[in-house]
Amino acid sequence: MTDPAVEAERRRTFAIISHPDAGKTTLTEKFLLYGGAVQDAGQVKARGERRRVRSDWMDMEQQRGISITSTVLQFPYRDRVLNLLDTPGHRDFSEDTYRVLAAADAAIMVLDASSGIEPQTLKLFEVCRERRIPLLTFINKWDRPGKEALELTDEIEETLGLATMPITWPVGIAGDFRGLIDRRSGDYVRFSRTARGATEAGEEILDPAAAEEVDGDSYLAAVEQIELLEAVGSDFDQELFEMAEATPVFFGSALTNYGVRLLLDAVADLAPSPQPRPDIEGDPRPLESPFSGFAFKVQANMDPSHRDRIAFVRVCSGRFERGMVVTHARTGKPFGTKYAHSVFGQERDTLEEAFPGDVIGLVNATEVRVGDTLYLEPPVEYPGIPAFAPELFAIARPKDVGRFKQFRKGIAQLDEEGVVQVLRDRDLGDQEPMLAAVGQMQFEVASARLADEFGSPAEISMTRFSIARVTDEATMANLRGMSGVRVLERSDGTLLALFESVYWLQRIESDHPDWTLDQLVAEGMAG
Ligand code: G4P
Repeated sequence: MTDPAVEAERRRTFAIISHPDAGKTTLTEKFLLYGGAVQDAGQVKARGERRRVRSDWMDMEQQRGISITSTVLQFPYRDRVLNLLDTPGHRDFSEDTYRVLAAADAAIMVLDASSGIEPQTLKLFEVCRERRIPLLTFINKWDRPGKEALELTDEIEETLGLATMPITWPVGIAGDFRGLIDRRSGDYVRFSRTARGATEAGEEILDPAAAEEVDGDSYLAAVEQIELLEAVGSDFDQELFEMAEATPVFFGSALTNYGVRLLLDAVADLAPSPQPRPDIEGDPRPLESPFSGFAFKVQANMDPSHRDRIAFVRVCSGRFERGMVVTHARTGKPFGTKYAHSVFGQERDTLEEAFPGDVIGLVNATEVRVGDTLYLEPPVEYPGIPAFAPELFAIARPKDVGRFKQFRKGIAQLDEEGVVQVLRDRDLGDQEPMLAAVGQMQFEVASARLADEFGSPAEISMTRFSIARVTDEATMANLRGMSGVRVLERSDGTLLALFESVYWLQRIESDHPDWTLDQLVAEGMAG
């Protein structure tokens, strides 16, 4: 039988983070092209679009030209199996992105060479830093005029406080891209164009003498810059990379495919393979132990004609085999896995087996929630995925009170899936629940689904609350009646005090230092 530890060693499970338009989609397509998963770059998008026409549930997706649903792409590369976890590509940050990152072992941060670090890059970077996810940096769009290479590495160091270790260095300024020097070997990789990068870029490897002959001054300028880098000690260090303290940097152009292979090689060679995951006690479960995994995302209605629900589970140990009956740790109930799928883009295929690092999609896993563990004996429970600290709060009311039952059911479902967090006033119960989110988009998804799927269109009114603190019964009693504050209960029982302004909160904190007003996890990254 296949050894899960050996299979795990071949896996690289990673995500791409970027500000919209930096080139995440293009790079993903090119990875698939280089991985041999598609013959012609552009196929992925086309396939997605065809699918989108069929999908009514995410009309929004089409209207706004964004991708709300994230998917998992698995493809072979050399002797490795790469699992690319796609994070939602919209401008708005949402809890989904955070959850997807909880399942990744590494991430590629894509920057646009002319924009450098943008707001969304910063926010996503903070999440990676908090989770200590090793980060590779790809400076994209080098085929267009942009900033200077050294300026960009300085920007990463200063803005993110992350040391840079350039592995490739561009020959030719942004806009006049000739090739890349691989600092590890000293080779000069010179590129030749293919039409819009539909096929792999032509690459010629030159030694320094030949490089100088063909690209003269541009080559020498790059060599000079590399000498500068060497003087400041920016050589690659695997340990610093794995500790998420320094990032290897790659330059390229996803559009023309320049530098894509070198980046993909780095994912295969440098990114860590799945490691034994610590359980709630902190004990790592060996990779070769029987199957275990945790759900990092639950997605309803990917296919409107089925109205179903998929739980995405990252395998942490053992071999998963379709049809095996596993235990659902939270309920202790057996769970059949006859309907296990691999989800490639928007397409599904039945999945027969999976190993640590892989993601399986379990269809109609109605009881499985984000953070839940599934296992084969011996039992294990992995730590949950902490809820992001919400910064947007809106009250939901059914437009038609006659459909309150449907409304209530819908809210409960959205809460369970983690589309939004649901807070209730103890006195009001299910009347006027408060929806809490980190991005506006989460409300739009909630609203669309309440109307289309549960048949109860809702009015969602934004409130002025902007910050939440975890509180207790005693402090709740003290806060009662104060203006600009409300205490509500989240469905996991946590009491949250909502404040309209951070100044008001600070004032209360300084007047009453003995009150319980604790920060939520991951605070300050959203917004
Ligand atoms: P995203 O997923 O991060 O939002 O970015 P996406 O890949 O969709 O890329 C955004 C735009 O940037 C696209 O142009 C894409 O073609 C372009 N782009 C991506 N990589 C490069 C690159 O290396 N060089 C250059 N010059 N452009 C790049 P668009 O006009 O919005 O779309 P399209 O008509 O080209 O598809």
